[in-house]
Amino acid sequence: MRLAVCSSKGGVGKTSTAANLAAVLARSGRVLAVDADPQDSLGRAFGVVAKSKEDSLAGLLENPEADPREVLRTEVAPGLDLLPAHPSLELVGVTLAAQGGIVTGIRRVLRPLLADYDHVVLDTHGDLGNLTLSAVCAADAVLTVFTSDPGSALGAARVTAFLDQHRAFENTVADLVGVACSLWDKDGKAAREVVGALEGTDLPLLATRIPVSRRVPSSTLAKRPVVLSAPSSSVAVAYTALAQDVLTAYQGLHQGKLELPR
Ligand SMILES: Nc1ncnc2c1ncn2[C@@H]1O[C@H](COP(=O)(O)OP(=O)(O)OP(=O)(O)O)[C@@H](O)[C@H]1O
Ligand SMILES: [Mg+2]
Repeated sequence: MRLAVCSSKGGVGKTSTAANLAAVLARSGRVLAVDADPQDSLGRAFGVVAKSKEDSLAGLLENPEADPREVLRTEVAPGLDLLPAHPSLELVGVTLAAQGGIVTGIRRVLRPLLADYDHVVLDTHGDLGNLTLSAVCAADAVLTVFTSDPGSALGAARVTAFLDQHRAFENTVADLVGVACSLWDKDGKAAREVVGALEGTDLPLLATRIPVSRRVPSSTLAKRPVVLSAPSSSVAVAYTALAQDVLTAYQGLHQGKLELPR
């Protein structure tokens, strides 16, 4: 599975979801995590910071001769390698878009690496701009995340429209594999209303909800996603269940057989 985690809105829990899903998937196979956001938060979730443009995805996008294996950080967690971002990715994305190379850019960078991995997880910027498009075009599945904020639920519909458009353009083969509820406030009226509204659509709402937990921001400081730093916490258990939801949905779409170990 090549999974891009996307939203049309920032701050909804994409990076936390991408980091934890990548770590869960790495329990049963080799995983490549790709940070496609100039904020470089996915790398930071594992304590990885690129020193320069050349040390990151930005340099690989800019220079087709560069070897992605020299930029990869290996074993940032058990079974997990990571391609870091760098703030320069923002300008590289703009320049590449002007040159016509953005849509296929990340797909081209990843191609020589794919045979080494069972899964790729791409984290994206909180918008549906050119870098997100590039990540989606490297993916075969998209997960979108929403919170109790009604605006973020509307964003799930925007991601669907974005994907439909780019499948029609033949820029991507990725399907929407799921819509996941993050920062779930079980006692909040807004949270219940937003989930209720999404249940009334044909969007593929995933059963597992990720609860609000202080452990998530703490895990960023500790540079270990919660599924690694506090595996028995309720939020880690939820991320583990969400990974299985995503695999099951992916399996339904692609007819493969993928199981996570218990
Ligand atoms: N389940 C949770 N409980 C509490 N805090 C959370 C949870 N999930 C994420 N957060 C916190 O919410 C903030 C936003 O989360 P995150 O960075 O994962 O979102 P994002 O969608 O990647 O944001 P951006 O669009 O800026 O990249 C972070 O400070 C993170 O620590
Ligand atoms: Mg993020």
